[in-house]
Amino acid sequence: MKSQQKCIVIFALVCCFGVLVALIFSAVDVLGEDEDGITEENCSKDCQVVLVENIPEDISISYEGTMPLAMGLHNLLNLAKKSVEIVSPEWDLNTTEHESRFPRAKQGQQLLQHLMDLKTGGVHLKVASGLTRSEELGLLSHWGAEVHYLNMTALTKGQLHSSFWVVDRKHMYIGSAAMDWRSLSTLKELGVIIYECSCLVLDLHRIFNLYWQLQYRDFVPSIWSKRLYAIYSKEKPLELLLNGSSTKAYVSSSPDLFCPKDRTRDIDAIFHVIQEAEKFIYISMMDYLPLLNNGAQTRYWSQIDGMLREAMILRRVKVRLLISCWEQMHPLAFNFLWSLKSLCMEMTNCSAEARVFSPRLRDDGNPQGINHHRYMVTDSSVYIGNFDWVGNEFVYNAGAGLVLSQRESGPAAVERVRALFDRDWHSTYSKTLQPNTVPMCGANAASNGPLLKDFPGSTEHEHSPNTSL
Ligand SMILES: *[C@@H]1O[C@H](CO)[C@@H](O)[C@H](O)[C@H]1NC(C)=O
Ligand SMILES: *[C@@H]1O[C@H](CO)[C@@H](O)[C@H](O)[C@H]1NC(C)=O
Ligand SMILES: *[C@@H]1O[C@H](CO)[C@@H](O)[C@H](O)[C@H]1NC(C)=O
Ligand SMILES: *[C@@H]1O[C@H](CO)[C@@H](O)[C@H](O)[C@H]1NC(C)=O
Ligand SMILES: *[C@@H]1O[C@H](CO)[C@@H](O)[C@H](O)[C@H]1NC(C)=O
Repeated sequence: MKSQQKCIVIFALVCCFGVLVALIFSAVDVLGEDEDGITEENCSKDCQVVLVENIPEDISISYEGTMPLAMGLHNLLNLAKKSVEIVSPEWDLNTTEHESRFPRAKQGQQLLQHLMDLKTGGVHLKVASGLTRSEELGLLSHWGAEVHYLNMTALTKGQLHSSFWVVDRKHMYIGSAAMDWRSLSTLKELGVIIYECSCLVLDLHRIFNLYWQLQYRDFVPSIWSKRLYAIYSKEKPLELLLNGSSTKAYVSSSPDLFCPKDRTRDIDAIFHVIQEAEKFIYISMMDYLPLLNNGAQTRYWSQIDGMLREAMILRRVKVRLLISCWEQMHPLAFNFLWSLKSLCMEMTNCSAEARVFSPRLRDDGNPQGINHHRYMVTDSSVYIGNFDWVGNEFVYNAGAGLVLSQRESGPAAVERVRALFDRDWHSTYSKTLQPNTVPMCGANAASNGPLLKDFPGSTEHEHSPNTSL
């Protein structure tokens, strides 16, 4: 009898506690941003897409059916009537005098100026940032921007590497470029801008809202507001028209802690795209390193590497990896690439190729025009993300991705991205990875063994190409 009463009391307490917790977290719901009365029922799905690229000035590769990134971003700002919401891993648009010797460096200042001028046009600028201090964000706040800072160290032990824009809740940009003058001048970037697409943007905006609500928090809530749940996912993609071509689309997010109900994780989006590929998988990345380092220990992070091996060996899908050659590259990256290649030995219809994109070395020995891409294209889909394919990125850092799938061939977006991949793959800057040689990638081409201390994507070390102008 006693124990029964005890049970009831405990049960009641648990219930009370549950209600309390629900109340606390529903506060997030009350504070949740409205969605301008646009719902899944009446949002727009007849969208236009433009591929945007930055090609470094000293590289002889030409824009092919793409728009220069700087022009694309200015166009987006010109379209804005009410709001511009930006998340970026970096804010470094203004150049120092030293940096401004690069011919296109001033493009960063022009973009910064345009952002500062938004307020006068009655447009509200909102920025979510994982930076602890940033002069530039201070300046933007002074000019009327609202900035929410996230303590990513406390939230995920990682960094905010997400890079996307939401404009008037109906246009968007997502891609490899950050709000960094280098992204508009010396780095090779690829992204997409999608116009008049409130259905897709509604969902991307929920990822922005999630960041927005994490300001001042030092833990990630275990229950999220319903308004942050995903609308579309890999199981239930949005069916829309992109330049008239029927397309399936959804956005993905990372890390796991930042994925409320139904949100597809980046790693699952990548997995899905690889699995759906029938003929080929072409990958253009700054870095490829299937390792995970938690500060004390380094482990093999097999997820993407394993998926690629399976696709190559068991499904005979042709794999091509175009990896950047840059100075802080982990030397083991080449070993992993090489091991992928050698897996196809003596097998018919198995093909894995790896090339390094290594632009000209400057006088000081540093490479210029680093390939900062983060995309994969297959015979049916394209995935454009914010991460290098390095274990730590997916486990600790926040990022987002976009998947577009199109079955028709022709001048559709997926086909266009494949053409861009081919252009780069066959360019004079792409060099086939040779057996038993680590390519020279800049001044400190690391032939002296792995620099595990400088593990890319780790908490202690900002993983960015900042040091290479
Ligand atoms: C969309 O539907 C909602 C609710 O059904 C309504 O409040 C809103 O005004 C509609 N928006 C547009 C743009 O039609
Ligand atoms: C950009 O940097 C230059 C030189 O460092 C400085 O004079 C200028 O005021 C900065 N511009 C803005 C908008 O902060
Ligand atoms: C972020 O969180 C960490 C760990 O909880 C804390 O040590 C640090 O002071 C916080 N940083 C800021 C800027 O609040
Ligand atoms: C290899 O590909 C060719 C052409 O696609 C096909 O005819 C052949 O059966 C394949 N061989 C194997 C072993 O899968
Ligand atoms: C979509 O259409 C716009 C304008 O009509 C064009 O500029 C753009 O290149 C097209 N995008 C693709 C991927 O074909």
